[in-house]
Amino acid sequence: MVALNEGEVVPEKSSTLKLSALVTVRNGNDDNNNMVSNLLTIFGPPKQTQGVVLQLVSTEFDPRRMDGKLSKKTVLELSEEHKFGGEGRSISYKVDFMVDSDFGVPGAVTVVNNYHNEFFLETITVAQNIHFACKSWVQPSKLHPQNRTFFVNKAYLPSETPSGVKELRERELMQLRGDGSGRRLSWERVYDYDVYNDLGDPHMGEEHARPTLGGQCNPYPTRCRTGRPPTTTDTKAESRPRESELIYVPRDEELGDIKKETIDQGKLMAILRNIMPAFTDKILGNEGVFNIDHFIKDSGQSEPLSWNLFKFGGAIQEFFKFDPPKVFSREKSHFIQDDELGRQVLAAFPLSIERLKVFPPESKLDPSKYGSVESALKEEHIIDHLEGMSIQQVLENNKLFVLDYHDVYLPFLHGINALEERKAYATTTIFFLTKMGTLKPIAIQLALPTENPNTSSKQILTPPKDATSKWLWQLAKAHVCSNDAGVHTLVHHWLRIHACMEPLIIAAHRQLSVMHPIFKLLHPHMRYTLKTNAISRQTLINAEGTIEIDHTLGRYCMQFSSAVYKDWWRFDMEGFPADLLGLAVPDTTQPHGIRLLIEDYPYAADGLLIWFSIEKLVQTYVNHYYRNSIAISSDNELQSWYREFINLGHPDHKNASWWPELANPEDLISILTTVIWNVSAQHAVLNFGQYPYGGYVPIRPPLMRKLIPKEEDPEYTDFVKDPQRYFLSSLPSLFQASKFMAVTNIGSAHSPDEEYIGDIKDLSSWVGEPEIIDAFNQFSMDMKSIEMEIGRRNADPKLRNRCGVDVLPYELLIPSSGIGATGRGVPNSVTA
Ligand SMILES: [Fe+2]
Repeated sequence: MVALNEGEVVPEKSSTLKLSALVTVRNGNDDNNNMVSNLLTIFGPPKQTQGVVLQLVSTEFDPRRMDGKLSKKTVLELSEEHKFGGEGRSISYKVDFMVDSDFGVPGAVTVVNNYHNEFFLETITVAQNIHFACKSWVQPSKLHPQNRTFFVNKAYLPSETPSGVKELRERELMQLRGDGSGRRLSWERVYDYDVYNDLGDPHMGEEHARPTLGGQCNPYPTRCRTGRPPTTTDTKAESRPRESELIYVPRDEELGDIKKETIDQGKLMAILRNIMPAFTDKILGNEGVFNIDHFIKDSGQSEPLSWNLFKFGGAIQEFFKFDPPKVFSREKSHFIQDDELGRQVLAAFPLSIERLKVFPPESKLDPSKYGSVESALKEEHIIDHLEGMSIQQVLENNKLFVLDYHDVYLPFLHGINALEERKAYATTTIFFLTKMGTLKPIAIQLALPTENPNTSSKQILTPPKDATSKWLWQLAKAHVCSNDAGVHTLVHHWLRIHACMEPLIIAAHRQLSVMHPIFKLLHPHMRYTLKTNAISRQTLINAEGTIEIDHTLGRYCMQFSSAVYKDWWRFDMEGFPADLLGLAVPDTTQPHGIRLLIEDYPYAADGLLIWFSIEKLVQTYVNHYYRNSIAISSDNELQSWYREFINLGHPDHKNASWWPELANPEDLISILTTVIWNVSAQHAVLNFGQYPYGGYVPIRPPLMRKLIPKEEDPEYTDFVKDPQRYFLSSLPSLFQASKFMAVTNIGSAHSPDEEYIGDIKDLSSWVGEPEIIDAFNQFSMDMKSIEMEIGRRNADPKLRNRCGVDVLPYELLIPSSGIGATGRGVPNSVTA
């Protein structure tokens, strides 16, 4: 007898039972669906509909067929007359399965779609209590000849898989891995790896070619393989997609309709918002970046007479303006103030600041290639800003901090400075921790490469003493911000999160069954990431894409990212406490085992609350499924996932000694906490502050167009005559600024279908596992209390980096958010 609810088992004959089931589907109603329909016509005229054929597979083994016991096939017709219920685009249908009386409990269902269109299979519920959370697009059998298999909504380690579905579990993973060949088509579900050889257009000329990332020359993580044909001029480079063509991602990785509509609307607004700045830039010249204020809502400034020429007038004009970035609302200046720069490196863009252990800081670059490693910074440059202490005293008391971009930028400066309208230094910025707990920039070293390795070109700028030095200091800080924007975007944000996590997601789909408890834990943290990265390869990180256009590094952006990956990225340092070691020291007396050297370091203080809540959840989860190290080492899916993440996901680092082992539950807890932290909270910090904190270009220029003039330079006379004009002409043009604002505004926005950390949507996989359900509920409550704690901290006047006059509260790690570029909200995954 089947173990089902009473009343759901209807004996047909003495040996046959009828199991009723409810199937909920959503119609395909998008571009992909139309494309599938069109393609099907190529295969000939539509054949007569045969509906959707469903078959249950028992958890019990049938020795006669050496596989799970099967029900009779049943046909589901997706037609109005067979509709059972549902609302909106979700429609339910009732079907009956005929099974033998010794069938046992259903463990899987196979599905064959004989229609000509794909449909989205949401759920199947058999006998009211056996759930299949399918949530997947099912393609017509003509396109996808293999049966689709959906497993019962329960977590099973591989060794505990019921014998009836064991084989199916392995077969399903083989389908997802594919055979590594051929071009991937939009309806497919194959997850595979490739190098980044699709960023350039070499057939359009040298200017448009970009080196392959991945391999000895330019190490890089791998990305999702698409199998597009090579270019005509370079067979190692994959051809770029046509403008209307989407880059392949497995079908279920495509964006939902709400997210897609949000992005489309954002793009339309971006175009509209750029029309006037582009027009104005053309007419007024390209030096008026401060005029960007006129394109921001409620700027509160009177407009010049000439502006009336371009007015749309009234409400329409207001509608097309940008929402004010948070920093614009508070910071009335057109330059970054010293205290604001200090707060930025601790809150808005907080991943690069480090404690200075030795003064002056030394370069680790090869002197035979890059000149003297010695810094030009001397005691005399900073001694007046140390509140009466000596250098030795401030070092001993952890009072000096540094934003050191010398070694990452210097190797690229010859290339950058040869570009038109792109100029950069290798900057080293020294900060002093004041008695108030704020950081104050006290010296900036600007280094340039020299032809002679025995010489170096370094100049030091310090806080101003007169009007001339005031403008030079502003220019130096603008260069620091531009370098910081490059590192933020290309290293912390794109490389460490988007690029390094993509192969982990690919490996999870290829090696972990959907039944695997670790896949179930990771699933919400993988949503939309492959698609987001595919969009990025199409329009952001590609040759002459938005990132190159917006940043000083120009065509060297991705090589820069690769160089940092090669020399610096280590997975074992991607956990939050390890990542904080530059600004914290181990301290066993502290609740989290580390002590922050700057108590009011908003990102670190709030981030630790989230990190330890994630760790607590993961600890409970992992310990529930894995009692000891044998359970870990004998889980072949888990071991394959991690091995593949290293060997195929990060092949250029696969032999590194720093990869953490995966030998016991503690190792797994650490790896999973690191992953979930990175794709949720860490990404939120990096992504959703871009517009609110960095969207106002005069304060934080993402690129610089001029070097700072020296007294002996011919431009110095122009600078002295009109320093404001020189300053303005060094920053991005008005049109560059408005484009940057438009792009960061889209990228920093939450869509209405965002899923935030701690939001509990569906715990049905763990029915019967109260310990797990309690842990998720506790995590959800933790996120709510963290939200309240962040509110309390933002109201604490002692915390001068997040509370005070003209000080922005620190909200990036508040878990919840509304729609749009709110500057808060921690989604579960990389969705933007
Ligand atoms: Fe992002």
